[in-house]
Parts: sequence; C-alpha cells; structure tokens
Amino acid sequence: MDGNTNRNWVLARRPEGDDFESALEFHLHGNIPTPADGQVLVKALYLSMDAGTRMWMGPRTDGYQPPVPVGTPMAGMMIGEVVESRHKDFAIGDRLRTFGHWADYSLASEQSGLFQKLPVEDDIDLPAYLAMGGPNGWTAYAGIVDVGKAKKGETVVVSAAAGATGSLAGQVARNLGCRVIGLTSREDKCRWLTEELGFDHAINYRQQNLSHELNVLCPGGVDVYFDNVGGAVLDTIMGHMAMYARIAICGLVSQYADTEKKPGPSNFDQLLMKRATVQGFFSPDFFSQCGEIEKTLMDWHRAGKFTYNVELVDGLENTLKAYHRLFDGSNMGKVMVRV
Ligand SMILES: NC(=O)c1ccc[n+]([C@@H]2O[C@H](COP(=O)([O-])OP(=O)(O)OC[C@H]3O[C@@H](n4cnc5c(N)ncnc54)[C@H](OP(=O)(O)O)[C@@H]3O)[C@@H](O)[C@H]2O)c1
Repeated sequence: MDGNTNRNWVLARRPEGDDFESALEFHLHGNIPTPADGQVLVKALYLSMDAGTRMWMGPRTDGYQPPVPVGTPMAGMMIGEVVESRHKDFAIGDRLRTFGHWADYSLASEQSGLFQKLPVEDDIDLPAYLAMGGPNGWTAYAGIVDVGKAKKGETVVVSAAAGATGSLAGQVARNLGCRVIGLTSREDKCRWLTEELGFDHAINYRQQNLSHELNVLCPGGVDVYFDNVGGAVLDTIMGHMAMYARIAICGLVSQYADTEKKPGPSNFDQLLMKRATVQGFFSPDFFSQCGEIEKTLMDWHRAGKFTYNVELVDGLENTLKAYHRLFDGSNMGKVMVRV
C-alpha cells in the first residue's frame, strides 16, 4: 500500500468451482473513497475469510444475501482502523469490526450491516474479535444453544468441525456438558479437535466410513447435529438421529459452487420416524444477543475453557491463497489476511 491508491479485489466474473484466480482481479490503482456524512474511511487490518462468501460470488438470487455484482470489489468482513471520520461516534484511530471490501480502504457506516467499535482490552488480541467473537462465535453459540437446544449429556455432532465456526460450536457444546463428536477431513485436524479443543471424538469423514463410526460412537443416536456442509454428510447423519433430534443448518459449504439444485436427502423420512426438527438459521437474526454471547465466549476463554486458532496470511495480494484454504480443507480455525 503506498498510501495514495486503494488496491482491491474485483469480482470480474462468477467463479466456476474453486477457480477464484479466473474470477477475481487484483486492481493496484483504485481510488481511495471519501466518506460522506455518517461514514468512516477504514484502513483494513485483518480481512476475514468466510466460506459463506462463496455463495455471494455465485449468480443465485435466492440466498440470504444478494450476489456481489460482477465488476465490483469483493465484499467481506474485516477489522480495520478509522483513518477519516464523518461519524459522530468514531474518531481517527478507533478500531472497528465491519463489512467492507477486500481492499486497502473501505467506507463503513450503520448501513454496512456490521459496524462495531472494538473495545481496547489488553488481554484480547485484535484477531480474536473475528476468530472467537464476531459472527463465527455468535453463529456457533446461537446454533448450539438457541437452535440446537443442546442439553447436558446429549450427543452433539459438528461438521467442518476444525473450521472457524465448527471449532467454536463444538466447544460451546462441550462447555454445556454435551458429548461432542467432530467431523473433519484430515488426521492432524482430528487430533487438534480431541487433543486441544476437548472434543470427545473426531471422525475423518473422508477416510473412515461415517455411518459405521456413528453406529459405534452414537448407539443411542445423534441428539443435535450442527451442520456446516449439507450434501452427503447431512444425509448420513439424518439416518442416525436420536428421537426428537434437532438439526441446526448453519451452512451448506459442499453445495455453494453447485450450478444446479441437487435432490433432497434420501433419509428425509427419518424426520418423521424420529420426530426430529430441522432449522436453518442466520447469525444476524441473533444480533440483539451478540454482546451477551461474546461476553460468555470471552469469559470462557479467560477461564481456559474456550480457545481458537488463527491462520494469518500476510498481504492483500495473497487473499486468494488464504481463501483457498477454506475450500481445500487445509485450514484449522479462522483464516484471515493481515493486510
Ligand atoms: N448461518 C450463518 O449465519 C453462518 C455464519 C457463519 C458461517 N456459516 C457457515 O458455516 C460454515 C463454515 O464456514 P467458515 O467460514 O467457518 O469456514 P471454515 O469452516 O473455517 O472452512 C470451511 C471448511 O468446510 C469444509 N469444506 C470445504 N469444502 C467442503 C466440501 N466441498 N464438502 C465438505 N466440506 C467442505 C472444510 O473442512 P473439512 O475439510 O475439515 O470438512 C473447510 O475447512 C459454512 O457453511 C458457512 O456458510 C453460517
């Protein structure tokens, strides 16, 4: 960043599969925008890499968020610093969590969707406000507590369990006294879940037979399934539900690159047989609770009962390398770009 231009990633065309290099262009000489009344100019410090943004790159208009228009900068969440303010509550140097662009500079205001000044707390690193607090933490908590209604002693299964959202969701369930089983795609990620995050078991769903492992580990069935992936994994879990099971649909990452809708799960009939509930949820719907949720997670963290991992990739120019980690399954915890 030379201070006079605004480097930014523009969505030049809709991606096919995980070919983000053909879809996104890195522009070196964008203009730095000027804030209007009520806006701040934010210099990006950390860009949040979120699997859900793959949906916004696609053409579908029936998602929870309209697609990013082709020819415009890619949107995303970030932590940044105010460098110019025309907002009464923000001063130069304030740190905030907001929506902006994959760019050096973004404009932000209440209209951004997320626009929160960050407290200055000596014992909490800035990245923690995206890796533990923020939307991943709120989603994990709301999905396990409000949607999954997980109770002490119940068996909870989490998919993409070593990812940003899943690793937190499993720990929320563990802190409630549940028995927690995480699904992930690699042995090192399985070990991280059981040895460091306190999951009771981890299943490598790519190497092991998921249905067989669930029979062994969950003879009484799965009470709560926190679903991050959809597709074949969701279908298999539906065949292993306990009576009155709850399935909290957080995300469907296995389907975000699909161009056509797939047939529904073959175990759909088990919803009736097990009197089960399936509920999709979206973390902004729980926004009124986010302060309280964040406090709970930070308190657990300070008490040594809740942890997180950040994978930092340096340089705005390396954003796509960071983004790929979410889709090639190599990430453990939260991926961010340090701009
Ligand atoms: N509802 C909401 O409000 C909300 C909010 C935040 C996030 N989410 C959802 O939460 C999920 C996780 O998002 P995140 O940003 O935290 O990412 P993440 O879990 O850190 O990374 C994505 C993970 O998904 C798994 N994955 C990637 N491609 C896959 C595929 N084709 N099939 C199966 N698994 C695949 C990989 O884990 P493994 O290889 O270990 O399986 C990967 O590590 C996404 O579905 C996202 O949309 C929803």
